[in-house]
Amino acid sequence: MTSTTQISLLLLLIFASLPSAPSSWHGVRGTRSPIEDPLHFEEATISDIQAAFNDGKLTSFKLVQHYLEKINALNPYLNAVVEVNPNALDDAAKADLQRSVDSHLSPLHGIPVLVKDNINTRDKLNTTSGSFALLGSIVSCDAGVIHRLRNAGAIILGKASMSEWDNFRSIMAPQGWSPRGGQGRNPYPTTNTPCGTSSGSAIAVASNLVTVSLGTDLDGAITCPAVMNSVVGIKPTVGITSRSGMVPISPRLQTIGPMARTMEDAVKLLDAITGFDPLDAKATKAAKRFIPNGGFQKSLKKDGLKGKRVGILRSFFDEYSKGSLEANTFTTHFHTMRLKGAILVDNLKMKNIEIMLNPIANGEGIALLAEFKLSLNAYLKDLVYSPVRSLADVIAFNNHHPIEERKDEYGQKIFLASQKTNGIDVAAKKAMKRMDKLSKEGVTDLMKEKNLDAVVFPHFYGLHAFGIGGFPIVNVPAGYNGSGAPFGISFAGLRGSDATLIEIAYAFEQATQVRKPPPMLV
Ligand SMILES: *[C@@H]1O[C@H](CO)[C@@H](O)[C@H](O)[C@H]1NC(C)=O
Ligand SMILES: *[C@@H]1O[C@H](CO)[C@@H](O)[C@H](O)[C@H]1NC(C)=O
Repeated sequence: MTSTTQISLLLLLIFASLPSAPSSWHGVRGTRSPIEDPLHFEEATISDIQAAFNDGKLTSFKLVQHYLEKINALNPYLNAVVEVNPNALDDAAKADLQRSVDSHLSPLHGIPVLVKDNINTRDKLNTTSGSFALLGSIVSCDAGVIHRLRNAGAIILGKASMSEWDNFRSIMAPQGWSPRGGQGRNPYPTTNTPCGTSSGSAIAVASNLVTVSLGTDLDGAITCPAVMNSVVGIKPTVGITSRSGMVPISPRLQTIGPMARTMEDAVKLLDAITGFDPLDAKATKAAKRFIPNGGFQKSLKKDGLKGKRVGILRSFFDEYSKGSLEANTFTTHFHTMRLKGAILVDNLKMKNIEIMLNPIANGEGIALLAEFKLSLNAYLKDLVYSPVRSLADVIAFNNHHPIEERKDEYGQKIFLASQKTNGIDVAAKKAMKRMDKLSKEGVTDLMKEKNLDAVVFPHFYGLHAFGIGGFPIVNVPAGYNGSGAPFGISFAGLRGSDATLIEIAYAFEQATQVRKPPPMLV
């Protein structure tokens, strides 16, 4: 460890133990132009950066250099990044060169993107889902979303840490921990979990180690870390973004989406990764009708709440925050939403809510165990080279590497249960039907009956309820509690309602402007 690293680490630890956030928090955003002073890249948005590129005040090369230095200084504490791309500076120099000859470039051109460690990149970076078992494996090609990012001229800055195997090895392992990435740390004071499983992707954008990042989500793996690290997270409808080249649990329900400090940045990243992919042809073709002509950027309207019918899942709010500071904040937010023209339908209750939220009772446990083994085995077989070729191999690897994989501490119970399954059998089919029926009765019917554009819920309550139906969710920062720990607000809707959710979430973000960067990092 270098001495600068030691000093930043010490400062972080001191600040992290402060009981509450310094009052200088207020109004940090927007008080200065991040780019003009080359030492202040913090909080820079994609449009700030593009403006600085165009004015000749900044190059991709300088920007990547800045982020690499920040990662060097802060990552020993945050553990948000597993690997940085050894080609990132070269790629940035190429992007700069292209900018000098081409004026019709994507908004993502020259923008550094950090990618969750379960999304394939065919370059010097490893793709390991946080596990040593996949170290050195060679993927056959870039994931569909990475292919699109490279075509847009984005710079793949590195791989983000995550909960190992998307938390599907063992229920004992802590959120945000992986053998390769260590324990990811939340940059906000007194919050002891970054949540998972896209933990590093959230920590990195929250801490300004990168402009934007990609995560993957099934049951809140993007939205929960977004909430806990006070950033925006979008879980798109399955098929809007390609699932090719992703270490899978259940491709039926899992999806890749953006994480960013602002809705606008998240949507720009989303627009760069959506669309048809021949390697995920069926789903990406079916979802094409959900992508507006001109992209989701068209949904960034300040009056996006006007006339929107939004249902309040009251029991989720009561469970999370009844009688607390947070409850008052949510009341204020609802007031703001009404002022901006939203029609709030209160006191809604999801049918069978207790069952919906319980992954054993709702069928999810049984279905995912069967789907995981099948889809992981298919993923591992497709690799050009890999030390492991099946779930059975991964289980054996963990048994042979108990120290690195902390096998004795956390075990691998979910792996073992999955290994026992035998394809999509009668029980798994029944479980999937149960999930569909519950989702229809609990979410779809409710939304249709009340004619809703979205439902709103706090924090990470309700994630299993929306996960089992593959419903899209957008999370926006909503506030900070008495200890300075962030909380969020999530908008969910029917499959394909992504554009509407983005309109609502963007207008909410613009009207409330809640997010503040982690105080010890500015
Ligand atoms: C990928 O893993 C190999 C070990 O198999 C390591 O030598 C290499 O440095 C890793 N790549 C990066 C970019 O860290
Ligand atoms: C704030 O939230 C964190 C968890 O995110 C919790 O540990 C802490 O106790 C909360 N503080 C207050 C004052 O509610």
